[in-house]
Amino acid sequence: MSLFASAAEIDVQAFAALCEQPVNLADYPHAQQVLNRVVIYHAESLRSAMRHERRALMSELHGLFRDGPGVLVVRNAYPDTDVIDRHSEVFRQIIAEESARVVRADHFARPGANQRIWNALQKAAECSPDSFIEYYANPLLGLLAEAWLGPYFQSTAQVNVVTPGGQAQQPHRDYHLGFQSDEVVARFPLPLHRLSQNLTLQGAVAHTYMPLETGPTLLLPFSQLYEPGYLAWRDQDFIDYFASHATQLPLQKGDLLFFNPGLFHAAGTNRTTDQYRMANLLQISSAFGKPMETVNRERLVLALYPLLLKRVEQGELDQEGLEAVIAMSADGYSFPTNLDTDPPLHGMAPQTGQQLLEQAVQERWPLARFTQAVEALRAKRLA
Ligand SMILES: [Fe+2]
Repeated sequence: MSLFASAAEIDVQAFAALCEQPVNLADYPHAQQVLNRVVIYHAESLRSAMRHERRALMSELHGLFRDGPGVLVVRNAYPDTDVIDRHSEVFRQIIAEESARVVRADHFARPGANQRIWNALQKAAECSPDSFIEYYANPLLGLLAEAWLGPYFQSTAQVNVVTPGGQAQQPHRDYHLGFQSDEVVARFPLPLHRLSQNLTLQGAVAHTYMPLETGPTLLLPFSQLYEPGYLAWRDQDFIDYFASHATQLPLQKGDLLFFNPGLFHAAGTNRTTDQYRMANLLQISSAFGKPMETVNRERLVLALYPLLLKRVEQGELDQEGLEAVIAMSADGYSFPTNLDTDPPLHGMAPQTGQQLLEQAVQERWPLARFTQAVEALRAKRLA
């Protein structure tokens, strides 16, 4: 078989055979139940397992995203939903400021139908570092990201608010190859289609209660397994199959929904007249991949630093929470860099933004010293 597939070779029967597999709860020993073939975890069990058997747990999660249904829900990931509400308020403030300036367009919806915040990661940190820290101190986000991507992942966030009457998306796959035309996708050999899935993890934090009538994401378990799937999601037979087989789960505020970016999915229609559905979409990239969005991580960490330091000094943020915030905010990878000016330090890889931030907090550097160090690191890495 050719390693370069074309859209003419897709086969909806083969797709259906993959997508109709059952899910065996016994394959996911840390899970609580399987609902509509989506694996459901309870945050408490994950928190306990990540401390005592992290590698076994990450292996289970990786297997679920790769060979299993490809999608999971974590219930009650934010037991204190006030943390979510405070961050929603930050998002509302950003939306209000931006909508006063410009009408934002979405990839799959009419302009104005949804409210979006691009680069919500940096904007939220700059708008309210306090809220950012308490929100991203949740280690479950990093657990899921690391299980799929390994360490040094690069998080981005986009907020989506689907207004009453907001229409469903077309089923699709996501970044990387999900954002290319069939012609471009066909130029990539099939092993790179698989690699594309491994370079990103798609996640969402539910910021509102999402009963089915508000249109939580439609999902097709196992659809990530269909190898030429990036060439198939625009095909009418596949769209029809999705329409009759996709599943949808109601979510509670503070639930997480994470899935393989190769999974066929689509936001649902909001059939209510008065309920706004808000999700913070986390698109998390491998250290080895190019994220879709640029984030000015220097500005982001400088915005966070004074409050991060204060919370650590006052005992309001433990080591686990600190590491979680650092992992979601600072640059975790040493490359690309300028090897003339930024040579390897204590091993093979030069210092990263995450290591610098960790050192500064541990040694209680004043902001001015940290600012200088961030600028020096940036200058060293430029060619
Ligand atoms: Fe998507």
